Amino acid sequence: MNQTARRLGNSAVHVGPLGLGCWPLAGMTRGGITAADAQATVAAAIAAGITHLDTAYCYGEAGESEAAIAAALSTHRRADVVLAGKCGIHWEPGRKQVVDGRPERLRREVDESLRRLGTDHVDLLYLHAPDPRIPIEESAGALASLRAEGKTLAVGASNISVDLLRRFAAVCPLDACQMHYNILQREIEADVLPWCRARGVSVVAYWPLMKGLLTDTMARDRVFPATDSRHKYPMFQGDEFQRNLDFVEALRPIAHRLGRRVPEIVLAWTAEQDGITSVLVGATNPDQIRENAGSLTCQLDDEARRAIARAVAARGTVASRKPV
Ligand SMILES: NC(=O)c1ccc[n+]([C@@H]2O[C@H](COP(=O)([O-])OP(=O)(O)OC[C@H]3O[C@@H](n4cnc5c(N)ncnc54)[C@H](OP(=O)(O)O)[C@@H]3O)[C@@H](O)[C@H]2O)c1
Repeated sequence: MNQTARRLGNSAVHVGPLGLGCWPLAGMTRGGITAADAQATVAAAIAAGITHLDTAYCYGEAGESEAAIAAALSTHRRADVVLAGKCGIHWEPGRKQVVDGRPERLRREVDESLRRLGTDHVDLLYLHAPDPRIPIEESAGALASLRAEGKTLAVGASNISVDLLRRFAAVCPLDACQMHYNILQREIEADVLPWCRARGVSVVAYWPLMKGLLTDTMARDRVFPATDSRHKYPMFQGDEFQRNLDFVEALRPIAHRLGRRVPEIVLAWTAEQDGITSVLVGATNPDQIRENAGSLTCQLDDEARRAIARAVAARGTVASRKPV
């Protein structure tokens, strides 16, 4: 993986090719993650040279992910990390997820996030998702004001179409766009990725490991309990799940020839795709992030790239990402 720091859009912010996705640290993707695990995972990421930390107002019902970052940062300088936050999604009682992009709501969430993070600014602030109930221009205007006030250095948008990106950027110039992207789920190659590439907007990829599926650690008979959000996604169900695991098996010899493990070549492949600026990988403990950090020194060769392309072709079309 090319480890050179990359500039986020037109901003002064630079990130490495791999970032720590701090969503699993909130303990909402599955249970059993303690505050100590979360804090140790952030610390292990920083120690491994992964300093781009991606979080959000809604990562945890009470900001548990932001709290873990703040705790881990107590022994680091603020300038040693790039903090990326998101606003525009929150939880209501009963774990009901609500998208709310009204300017006053966004501003309130950002102020609360900054308090939890113990900082006066984030380096990158995304609109987490467009709110279909209001014109995107209103949300974009709020992020432009927050940047003008110094509460963020760069602005991004996430989970968004090209049409809405265009309207957002007309009000608030964009530095980054965060979308789901991995070897098997590559919808953005058709529209968002070329649009961003043509305009110098950085694309930050989430779900590079397909929520853990591409790590080569899942048994074929694995059953996800109701407390593990993966049970809702087609990619972990029935024949889809088995065919995805066939694909992972096909990656194994490719990784072994390079002296690597499957998640390392998966992350290296993702980071080297044209237009991808940084890849956010989640982890639930320090060992996982240490293993994933191995991808930083993983170099794919043309033989590996050709073999990966053959495995992707053999896998065929994957199911939609949407939970059911
Ligand atoms: N903008 C958005 O709307 C949005 C949406 C989703 C995610 N994101 C961001 O993108 C980040 C990455 O996405 P993600 O965390 O959902 O998915 P991911 O990176 O594809 O998968 C992460 C999960 O895989 C498992 N894992 C990771 N490394 C492993 C290893 N070496 N060995 C075995 N298992 C391993 C862990 O789950 P288990 O230990 O539970 O198996 C971990 O929680 C998020 O953390 C978040 O920052 C953004």
